[in-house]
Amino acid sequence: MKKEIRLTNYSDKELIELIKEIKKQKNVLLLAHFYQIPEIQDLADYVGDSLGLAQKAAQSNVDIIVFAGVHFMAETAKILNPKTKVLLPDLEAGCSLAESCPKDKFSDFKANYPDHMVISYINCSADIKTMSDVICTSGNAVQLVESFSKDKKIIFAPDKNLGGYINRITGRNMVLWDGTCEVHDILSTETIINLKIENTDAKLIAHPECKAAVLELADYVGSTTAMLNFTKNDDSQKYIVATETGILHQMRKNSPNKEFIIVPTDETCSCNDCPYMKLNTLEKLYLCMKNEKPEIKLSDQVIKMAEKPIRKMLDISKKMNLVK
Ligand code: 13P
Ligand code: SF4
Repeated sequence: MKKEIRLTNYSDKELIELIKEIKKQKNVLLLAHFYQIPEIQDLADYVGDSLGLAQKAAQSNVDIIVFAGVHFMAETAKILNPKTKVLLPDLEAGCSLAESCPKDKFSDFKANYPDHMVISYINCSADIKTMSDVICTSGNAVQLVESFSKDKKIIFAPDKNLGGYINRITGRNMVLWDGTCEVHDILSTETIINLKIENTDAKLIAHPECKAAVLELADYVGSTTAMLNFTKNDDSQKYIVATETGILHQMRKNSPNKEFIIVPTDETCSCNDCPYMKLNTLEKLYLCMKNEKPEIKLSDQVIKMAEKPIRKMLDISKKMNLVK
């Protein structure tokens, strides 16, 4: 097993206490995505999916936002709070979807469809957001696409699995950018079918970033929050979960008597961890809060242009009661 290099001499218990102290001292809002390690989720002021986190960032009124998530999420928080210091514990915490869609290539792609509007999944860089008409997350993507008339021509970027899923269930024909999430796209139908055979009493729940063949097998498809709510309200006792390992922490907290089985990527562990999300550790979180860096920096021009499609998403979501 890979040995982790320690960055401090503190134990995890000490780090947790230190983080709590700095949080109070510095008027920090600590936001964490469901894919963070359990210790970080438990320290956060708010844990959620991309939609909930964007909404919380939009409502914030603090001196510092610390984003325990990945780069595009912290960028979104900065765009919504240009005057606030936004920190990310590790700037290397990227995303395969955001990286699949570089701005020059996307600009050329977009030029081929001059009469199309652009709906971009929030998992993209701030530069791609500046080229988009509206942003969506997995928590509102279907409703958001449906809010535009059926004859509207749409480019959907960068996740072809999510875009394909929306096309199938809405009967649309959106043009799709060819990007995938490496964490969800890797999940195989073979592994899932074997788990289903071994656990005939379990329901399969899947994130829409999974391949079409996986989604077809699922009893329920939804964003991270939607899957969590499904397991809270549904009467099954066992679930096969086709997404990232981190969500199991909240599922187990909310339904301690139910059983959750993550779909593994291979035989070496019963896990499916996002390598970018898991770059954040307690030590990096502590150091980032103590030193107030690394900080997210964006030009005023990018902030101004990227803010519009994000605000549009939040407004539409509010009208549809998808966020509070
Ligand atoms: P949600 O948080 O919208 O469920 O998306 C999952 C994901 O992959 C975030 O990077
Ligand atoms: Fe990106 Fe996938 Fe990781 Fe989410 S889980 S940050 S979409 S690589």
